[in-house]
Amino acid sequence: MAAPTPGHFITFEGVEGCGKTTQILRLADRLRARGLPVTLTREPGGTPFGQAVRRVLLDPAGPPREPAGELLLYLADRCQDLAQCIRPALGAGHVVLCDRYHDATLAYQGAARGIARSVIDRLAAALDILPPDLTFLLDIDPERSLARAIARNAATAEGAAESRFEGETLAFHRAVRAGYLELARQEPERFAVIDADRAPDPIFADIAARTDVLLAGRRRED
Ligand code: TYD
Repeated sequence: MAAPTPGHFITFEGVEGCGKTTQILRLADRLRARGLPVTLTREPGGTPFGQAVRRVLLDPAGPPREPAGELLLYLADRCQDLAQCIRPALGAGHVVLCDRYHDATLAYQGAARGIARSVIDRLAAALDILPPDLTFLLDIDPERSLARAIARNAATAEGAAESRFEGETLAFHRAVRAGYLELARQEPERFAVIDADRAPDPIFADIAARTDVLLAGRRRED
């Protein structure tokens, strides 16, 4: 069991192109304007080791890999992020905002790639994967959001190098969405499901309001 930490741990999830990165940056600005210490991270790629792992994972021209190998690389990235970034920041009382985290593994490698939930849960327990305090699921039909993600990635060399999952079928992305919604159904207290098929402003209003509830309440004591 992890030691008690005074910060708040908030994660953001959703299918490709759901708009979470824009919302995270807005929330970070809002919290900092109120004088709160904020740490931003993302998975994969929140640490120097994670950036190297990210390049391997997301390269559309990269070699084929077994689902289990892909799973272990995401977990390797997560362990590094927890040790080097998330736990120290929480210990220092920061609000940690993480762009994708363990629910992405359950939705992509679990629900969509078909790895059994029990396998992922056993690994997560062995690795002491810290549960978030609050998870925003930006929910949108992937048919509507994928076009946005593909256009964005095609616009830059960095994006083109990271488009591995955009080459998956619509059925794959629908399975990811269904996986996320099932996780939210199982843990309604931790998840806030946000309708992401709207303009950025009303989406952000919902995120800000739910974050205020968390920050007004108890601190972490896991
Ligand atoms: P991300 O950089 O958030 O992509 P985007 O912002 O374009 O949606 O995430 C990178 C990709 O990695 C994304 O396709 C989802 C995938 N992913 C997993 O399959 N498993 C995981 O555990 C994580 C964290 C991400």
